[in-house]
Amino acid sequence: PAGARITATGSYVPEQVLTNADLEKMVDTSDDWIVQRTGIRERRICAPDQFTSDLCIAAVRNLLDTCPQAELEDTDLIIVATHTPELAFPSAACLVQGHFGLKQAGAMDLNATCAGFAYALHVANGLICAGLHNKVLVIGADALSKTTDYTDRTTCILFGDGAGAALLERSADRPGFIAYHGGADGSGAEHLYRTILTDKLKDKNGDSQPLKADGRIVQNGREVYRFAVTTVPVGVSALLNKAGMTAGQVDWFIPHSANLRIIDSVCEKTGLSLDKTLHTIERFGNTSAATIPLALDAAAKAGKLQDGDNLLMYGFGGGLVHAGLLWRW
Ligand code: ACO
Repeated sequence: PAGARITATGSYVPEQVLTNADLEKMVDTSDDWIVQRTGIRERRICAPDQFTSDLCIAAVRNLLDTCPQAELEDTDLIIVATHTPELAFPSAACLVQGHFGLKQAGAMDLNATCAGFAYALHVANGLICAGLHNKVLVIGADALSKTTDYTDRTTCILFGDGAGAALLERSADRPGFIAYHGGADGSGAEHLYRTILTDKLKDKNGDSQPLKADGRIVQNGREVYRFAVTTVPVGVSALLNKAGMTAGQVDWFIPHSANLRIIDSVCEKTGLSLDKTLHTIERFGNTSAATIPLALDAAAKAGKLQDGDNLLMYGFGGGLVHAGLLWRW
């Protein structure tokens, strides 16, 4: 049956490195604490005049440079998964479209925080399978350094900047999609947010609670941690069930890189192998919508992915939201 395949990937991280030693000089923390609690050693940070659309463009440029067979001219849709666009509008996707002059492409941003790439892949795949689109450029990108409070030691140690891109094309005989599972829990909105136009969050009765309204990321780390280590294993099992597969049949697990302890816990609970897990947590930290495509592209470039490999990607984050796909390479 016809479906969508990933035919090319690319990625980009900014040059400037922010190490744990740098953070020791900014907040009361230590390299030891950060490595033990999160697994992160360093992250990349945008230059002052570098923003999410610049990361996207560099990732697409890298895709073109490293996948010479890739042809973007007839791309008919660009989806950028991000929650840190530099402008409310035009979207980051429109800035990418304009930069590359992709005249046949529609463009839109999709915000599902750290699950954004998985959601965008799900949407792109659905549109191609429905016969509505033929070639969709999917990008996961975030410039979290622009929205991080560098006086808050509980969040500033986590976040970095980056972008990853994947080109999806209609394929008559080798569809990538195997299964999807996802969900949301808006009742957990207060555990992870960043304000734009209001400083209040209304519950379902219409009662408001005040939010910290400085436009920086606010997180209750313990609640998000608990959400991740309960929801993701259940989601992984649901995905495997839908596909009639076992954890042992997964060739590569590509989880959202938020915290190495979360990845360890998910592997332990699901039977997925830590040795077959692809992530970028040590060097890039949590780059939100970019973590999964950064790891995917690194593995593709390292020659780790063989035709027919079963990939299990799973994202989770602010919303709260989660989404995963089983995908044949
Ligand atoms: N350095 C030193 N000590 C610290 C630091 C730090 N950077 N940060 C917190 N601490 C302290 C706390 O103050 C606390 O001290 P206390 O016991 O005296 O109160 C102690 O360390 C333990 O704090 P916890 O919050 O319990 O630490 P925990 O082990 O939970 O780790 C962390 C915190 C890393 C934030 C973890 O909760 C986590 O990873 N949560 C999930 C984050 C996540 O995955 N986010 C994903 C989505 S992001 C998005 O969508 C944009």
